[in-house]
Amino acid sequence: MKILITGISGMLGMDLYETLREEYEVVGLDIKDFPSISLPSPPLRKVDITDGHELRKLFRQLAPDFVIHTAAYTDVDGCERNPDRAHRVNALGTRNIALASQDLGVPLMYVSTDFVFDGKKNYPYAELDEPHPLNVYGKSKLAGENYVRSLGERYFIVRTSWLYGRYGKNFVETILKLAEEKEELTVVDDQVGCPTYTRDLAQKMKKLLSSSSYGIYHITNSGSCSWYGFAQEILKLAGIREVKVIPITSEELARSAPRPQFSVLKSSSSGRGAEDTMRPWEEALKEYLKERKGLKGLED
Ligand SMILES: NC(=O)c1ccc[n+]([C@@H]2O[C@H](COP(=O)([O-])OP(=O)(O)OC[C@H]3O[C@@H](n4cnc5c(N)ncnc54)[C@H](OP(=O)(O)O)[C@@H]3O)[C@@H](O)[C@H]2O)c1
Repeated sequence: MKILITGISGMLGMDLYETLREEYEVVGLDIKDFPSISLPSPPLRKVDITDGHELRKLFRQLAPDFVIHTAAYTDVDGCERNPDRAHRVNALGTRNIALASQDLGVPLMYVSTDFVFDGKKNYPYAELDEPHPLNVYGKSKLAGENYVRSLGERYFIVRTSWLYGRYGKNFVETILKLAEEKEELTVVDDQVGCPTYTRDLAQKMKKLLSSSSYGIYHITNSGSCSWYGFAQEILKLAGIREVKVIPITSEELARSAPRPQFSVLKSSSSGRGAEDTMRPWEEALKEYLKERKGLKGLED
């Protein structure tokens, strides 16, 4: 089976490639080159997903049996400042991918986000809860979901949250870097979600793609925390005791895009393709820190 991964040079795309490459023929597309790492580079076509004509041509040439769509404009505050680009890439780009997949008659797996919810429920969100995004990024990703749902029959929508992984800029790396430079870090304590390791997510997506139980899935590591709690756990597991973390409010941080205060996702997919619970986020984080290049001496 040939799988086409969009956004293959991004954080999740690279972990998906690593997870799938031994069992599947993987081809990728991205707007940028595949970074140089220890893995052999995948066959990669550089294309902008907003170019629907080029995309359809490329899909016909590559003739995949399955498409995983991770490419997106993922800078949440950037989206707020540049709503046109957010809509073009995340909504219309996804429409182009859905149309090109439909043209070939192949199933599509689209990666979406907890930010489609407004966070006012204060209880974990299930797949059928009504989305109501607060920011431009969330709106553009939800518009992408709606195109996927209306343009194809065989689709998976995988909503996930707070991603970190070995191949991208992420919160864990930001905290570790800041901890080298500062004695005190201020971190938001009034947004609660679930940190998710891209490697765990990629493994779950692999399981899902061999099923035919199409639909919407919530896939995250289990448990939840605030960004403040996440930062504390990162420093604790990395053995950094001398840096103090101070909780602040979202209002104090004053970022461009409003964020949901509570965006924990729960899965009610029991009996479908991805029923078993993912390991707790603390366990996944511990493994990530162990695997992370250059970090030594973690306690068990
Ligand atoms: N990161 C999170 O916390 C999070 C949480 C929930 C859901 N998600 C979703 O998960 C997916 C993967 O996220 P990620 O963090 O792995 O993203 P990422 O690292 O930003 O990777 C996305 C990739 O898509 C590429 N891309 C952007 N615009 C493109 C275009 N017009 N045409 C073709 N390629 C384009 C990016 O290139 P550039 O780097 O040059 O832009 C990048 O290589 C996304 O769909 C995101 O919405 C992410």
